Amino acid sequence: MHDFASTPWTPSSWRSLPVQQEPSWPDEDHLNRVLTQLASEPPLVFAGEARTLTAGMAKAGRGEAFVLQGGDCAETFAADTATNTREKIKVLLQMSTVLTYGAKMPVIKIGRIAGQFAKPRSSETETVDGVTLPSYRGDAVNGLAFTEEDRIPDPDRLLGVYHHSATSLNLIRALVGGGYADLNRVHQWNREFVADSPQGKRYELMADHIQSALDFLHAIGINAENSEKLRATQFFTSHEALLLGYEEALTRLDSTSGDWYDCSAHMLWVGERTRQLDHAHIHFLSGVRNPIGVKVSNRMEPNELLDLISVLNPDNEPGRLTLITRMGASAIRDALPPLLAAVKEANKTVTWITDPCHGNTITSESGYKTRRFDDVLDEIVGFFAAHDAVGTVPGGVHMELTGEDVTECLGGDQDIADLDLSRRYESACDPRLNNAQSLELAFRIAEILQRRRNIV
Ligand code: PEP
Ligand code: CO
Repeated sequence: MHDFASTPWTPSSWRSLPVQQEPSWPDEDHLNRVLTQLASEPPLVFAGEARTLTAGMAKAGRGEAFVLQGGDCAETFAADTATNTREKIKVLLQMSTVLTYGAKMPVIKIGRIAGQFAKPRSSETETVDGVTLPSYRGDAVNGLAFTEEDRIPDPDRLLGVYHHSATSLNLIRALVGGGYADLNRVHQWNREFVADSPQGKRYELMADHIQSALDFLHAIGINAENSEKLRATQFFTSHEALLLGYEEALTRLDSTSGDWYDCSAHMLWVGERTRQLDHAHIHFLSGVRNPIGVKVSNRMEPNELLDLISVLNPDNEPGRLTLITRMGASAIRDALPPLLAAVKEANKTVTWITDPCHGNTITSESGYKTRRFDDVLDEIVGFFAAHDAVGTVPGGVHMELTGEDVTECLGGDQDIADLDLSRRYESACDPRLNNAQSLELAFRIAEILQRRRNIV
């Protein structure tokens, strides 16, 4: 194991360690010029906001709140429109309302948004009709079009990531703070969406109940004008910390605390392919004070996980470290309990959430990369069951979803079949649950939370 003590942390100390998934940038000088420019740009988020999220994640770790983290697998510059952002926020607000109403618990809302532009790839290359080209690594690196030119990594794209993140974040802040998230709009979020679908109708019913509670509050003098909580909500951003040069450039010293924060997003996570204990990504995240996450598959051994926790959260600070399990519906019931037990036994304080997407990716008969709604749900059910068996806290969900009516995942109430996938398959990377499937899942999770609440 690498001796971390011999590598004192600075924002650039990761450079002396092995780095996985780093693109082959054709021109180092060009890359460095871009990174120097990014280092002089304003931060996108502030340290105090990240600390607020840490406190929220700590609550979720104790079972006093529930985390809803979701958004695209890969954001793209072309799809980064005001409409798409608003629809994503809308579906997340709807889901969060369903969960809050069902679980009677605050929901911590975190988007895979305003920065999720880089993708790790299992294969360096992609072959289509006998032609082999470098894999698409996200708009942060190269282009999706299957041409030689598009697939060349271009550092100027990192400036695009920064600017797209800034404009998205600006819109998100306006939406959640400027009246769009006002609970009195609970009905409006349903309009032009799935109002006629079974999920839409179910949502309408719940919205009626919420409206009636709001009318009651209004009658006794509590309303959106005098209560911030009714008028606005908190919404946080997150992405995979994959391109460490970019993350380093956005890492700033917080004058209040004297600590380093990666100000590209509130929360950063390290993926399944870059979580090697003695490598650059884990080392980088060990030194920034944001709340951080690590993806944990069924290939993780208990001892490896305990070592990882010691490196990333040596002070056992609540909310600092979130473990995002992604094991697959068929593996989670066997693979998760030993990890939960080891962490509990060692008295390590972490927040556990489930990513029920990445362990359930399949190729459909017609050749689409897809997921079955039922597998996604089954992994969530397995996640709760594993925590109940060990006596630990299931703290939330992390999902790939979109606010659009796409056809990328199979099943759900709409009963999307293999032959439907071609109708609106728009993801640049992994398949996303569409708006109706996302809402349906929120209702199913709310039912589970409600049941557990009644038992506890
Ligand atoms: C992702 O979250 O898009 C991803 C690539 O996940 P993982 O690292 O768990 O495979
Ligand atoms: Co993905």
